[in-house]
Formats: sequence, C-alpha cells, structure tokens
Amino acid sequence: MMRLSANRLAGRRILLGISAGIAAYKSAQLARLLKQAGCEVRVVMTAGAQAFITPLTLQALTGEPVRTSLLDPEAEAGMGHIELARWADIILIAPATADLMARLAQGMADDLLSTLCLASEAEKLMAPAMNQAMWRHPATQRNADRLNQDGWRLLGPASGDQACGDVGPGRMLEPEEIVAALIEQPAEAVASESPTQALPAQGRHIVITAGPTREPLDPVRYLSNHSSGKMGFALAAAAVELGARVTLISGPVNLATPEGVTRIDVETALQMHETSRRLAIDSDIFIGCAAVADYRAEATAEHKIKKTEGEDTLTLRLIKNPDIIAAVADMRDAAGGRPMVVGFAAETRDLETYAHDKLIRKRLDMIVANDVSAAGLGFGADDNAALLIWRDGEAEGGETLPPQPKLQLARAVLEQALSRLASQPVP
Ligand code: C5P
Repeated sequence: MMRLSANRLAGRRILLGISAGIAAYKSAQLARLLKQAGCEVRVVMTAGAQAFITPLTLQALTGEPVRTSLLDPEAEAGMGHIELARWADIILIAPATADLMARLAQGMADDLLSTLCLASEAEKLMAPAMNQAMWRHPATQRNADRLNQDGWRLLGPASGDQACGDVGPGRMLEPEEIVAALIEQPAEAVASESPTQALPAQGRHIVITAGPTREPLDPVRYLSNHSSGKMGFALAAAAVELGARVTLISGPVNLATPEGVTRIDVETALQMHETSRRLAIDSDIFIGCAAVADYRAEATAEHKIKKTEGEDTLTLRLIKNPDIIAAVADMRDAAGGRPMVVGFAAETRDLETYAHDKLIRKRLDMIVANDVSAAGLGFGADDNAALLIWRDGEAEGGETLPPQPKLQLARAVLEQALSRLASQPVP
C-alpha cells in the first residue's frame, strides 16, 4: 500500500508566487506550512500583491529574500530569473488572480512571476481566488481550461462566503488543503519511486461528492438530511491508496479529510452542482456519493421567518434541485469524451428495480445500490453492503458485495471501476 506523507515535500524547492488578492494574507501561513514540511521556499510577489501583504513578512517566514521585480539589477546579480526558474521543482501560485490567470493563459511575460512561469519546466499548480462573478465569467473559465491543457493543476477554488460579501465559488483553498494537494503523488513520482509496483489508479483523477447538502430557508434554518459522508470519505481514502489524484466535494460533515485528498467544502446543491461540473470534466471517474437534497426553498428569506399569530401552518414553496450526477453524465469535452460516472442508490425496498431505473434514467455507467433498511448498514453506519450493477452488464445481473467496513467496500467498488476503465474507454 502506498503511504502519502508530508515527507514527499521534504527537500523540494518550491517557488511560491503571490498575486494581488485579499487571500494573499493566507500565503504567509502557506509559506510556514511548506517550510514545516521541509521544503525550500522562495517567494515571488506581483506588484499588486504587495498592497495586501509585505515582502518582509514572507522574507521573515522563509528566511530568503523575496523577489518582486524583473528589472532589479541587485537581485538579478544574486540569482538571475532564469536561474530561479531552473531552481524550482514546483511553482505554486496562491492566490492566483483572474488577471494573472489571463496573462499566464496567454503566455505573457510582462512581470517577474509570469516570466518565471514561462521559463520554468517545474510542476505547476495554482490556487485561484477571486469574486464569484469573475470566476464564473466565460473568459476566466476559458483561461482555466487553457491553463489545464497547458499542464497547470488548478486547486479549487472553494465555494462559500467571500470577502466582498458575495457567496459562491472563488475562495482560495485553505493553506492546509493546498499543502495536502501538493503532497499528492504525481504519477511520474510514483513510477520512479516504485517502478515494480504500479498502482491501479496511478495517473487517474477521481472526483467524489460526499455528505448531505444544506438548503437555507432563512439566515438561521435549513433543510438537510442524515447523510454522514462516511462512504464518500472512505471512497476518497481508498482512491488515494490506489494511487489516484482525488478531489472530494463535500457537503457539511463532521469528518477529517483523508490524507492526500484535496477537499472542497460546499453547502448547497447548487454549489455542489457548479463545483462538480467544473471539476468532473478533468476527471477519469466521477462518483456521486452525496445525498443531495432533492428540493430547495424557492426563495431564501432575508430575515428569520417569524411565527404568525393565529396561523397554525406555514407553507414553504420548494423547487427541484438539479440532478448533479445526471448533469455530469451529459457533459462532453472537446473530444466528445466524459468521465466514467458511478452513482449510489440508497433504497429501503425493491433495491434492484429502483437502482436499475436510476442507472438508466441518469445515464450512469455503474450504480452501487445499498439497502438502507438493514440494521447496522448504510446511513451513518461504519459498515455497508452493496449490489453493483453496470449499464453494459445488464445480462450479467448485479454483483453482490456482502456487509463489510465502508473502506473495504470502497476499495472493491474502485477496483471494479478501474478495471473497467482500463479495458473499455467510456464515451
Ligand atoms: O435520485 P437519487 O437521489 O436516489 O439518486 C442517487 C444518486 O444520484 C447518487 O449517486 C447521488 O449522489 C446522485 N444525485 C445527484 N444529484 C441530485 C440527486 C442525486 O447527483 N440532485
């Protein structure tokens, strides 16, 4: 079994790029965590970043001079920019603003950081951070796609409250989440460290949804369900063990993030929908394990809903949430492909019939059906049993996986999915 630990970062040379976002104040903590993990860290800041955090702070934390300008004869005499580009094993930009993303997507070299990115052959990652409307803008989405194609790994952004008062996607991942993503073993590193033990999910990106969603009614109340998130988190942990790069999109749960997993927290079904669609297109397998609320309030009350004198009933008007997994199953990339899509069905009766109906209706490749009426299994429990049904394996009937710990069941589900993926590409 592969162990992932912060040791993978020991001795790595990380060039930390900081651009002009309010999240730049978190870059100080990020630099600290990287140093604690044993990395050599050198910081490059854009001109705008210095309005949010001072070079002196980063210099004190890294023990190295901070570079801010391309045309700085003194700094260039110490370590020239091409030398600095060659020095780095990893370039990590956090926060990456919309403007910097646009410049990098265009291959511009109009300041020190963009020049280094162009000149360096290091592994490159960025954690975007911006207002939600800026992130959603088609231009930014286009730039994100281009950067992905150019080999950048985008970490996040997460959804939630923003400094500007908006709510939505665009928050920088937390420094701990960024470090966890760095610790993930890239495929080449695994290959060179253990040439004889290729892992079945090596080089694969697996995106998993987990937990419940929470649908606000007013500032203090919400609709939700009892999902604990345990099955989704077990899948994430098992996928890392099998060598995958794993992104876990989680609703509100009370569970620790498994080691090596990039976790993005969301609250509502709409946030989970948006994050899933964005990340799924870059994945090999998408697993919908979340218990997504079927409905949300048509309108969230701005103030706490009050009891009305003389009224014994309150009518809430709900509207249907999008079906996230069906939306992912309908996605196609430029080459007409999409990830393998695996769903879950929690049923209390007629397990096979209902699960089969979902498999077809949501256009899934595989469904993992659980009988949640059985004592000690399913929702909130540590154990689970399942019936696996493949869309192309109807004639074979399903495969029954007996009651077992969720981590063990997760391994069995993933091993099945990975072996199918290896033998037959999905549409
Ligand atoms: O329809 P039902 O909720 O029973 O379907 C369960 C499957 O569909 C699970 O894989 C769940 O994660 C997914 N789902 C979804 N979006 C919804 C509802 C369910 O992705 N809105």
